[in-house]
Amino acid sequence: LKFVCVSNDGLKNIFARQLPNMPKEYIVRLVMDSQKFGEIAFCAITADEQVKGYGTRLMNHLKQHARDVDGLTHFLTYADNNAVGYFNKQGFTKEIFLEQERWHGYIKDYDGGILMECKIDPRLPYTD
Ligand code: ACO
Repeated sequence: LKFVCVSNDGLKNIFARQLPNMPKEYIVRLVMDSQKFGEIAFCAITADEQVKGYGTRLMNHLKQHARDVDGLTHFLTYADNNAVGYFNKQGFTKEIFLEQERWHGYIKDYDGGILMECKIDPRLPYTD
């Protein structure tokens, strides 16, 4: 099993170069890597492979990559009600410790879910 992380950096550079009249901060805000947190917009495992540990391994690889390659410190996600248990087990809390200025307006407000936060440990080896 192989996990591949696809970064948004290239995307940001393409937009900045090809849309020179678009304010750079706006592009950064939309492509969103400057606030040092990542938003998990969608997260799913195919139905017949669920609850076999893949979701945990996926999250661990994501944490390791986000910290070591992108320098992120936190994740935020609007979790579906029925996925709160899964996110809890991945270290997410309903309590948001990040200062509001750091994230408010940078992620899309979404009524159908519960905002959850995960602090990425600065040292923990998440993968072997
Ligand atoms: N509710 C409560 N606990 C759960 C859930 C759940 N929906 N799914 C998994 N868990 C638990 C498992 O029992 C396991 O517990 P354990 O460590 O005590 O054994 C732990 O979480 C890890 O389970 P994995 O097997 O690693 O999780 P899985 O591979 O099934 O992936 C996921 C979890 C992504 C939620 C998957 O079940 C899925 O795709 N579900 C349907 C789509 C979904 O709800 N996605 C999240 C929507 S929210 C969003 O995308 C931001």
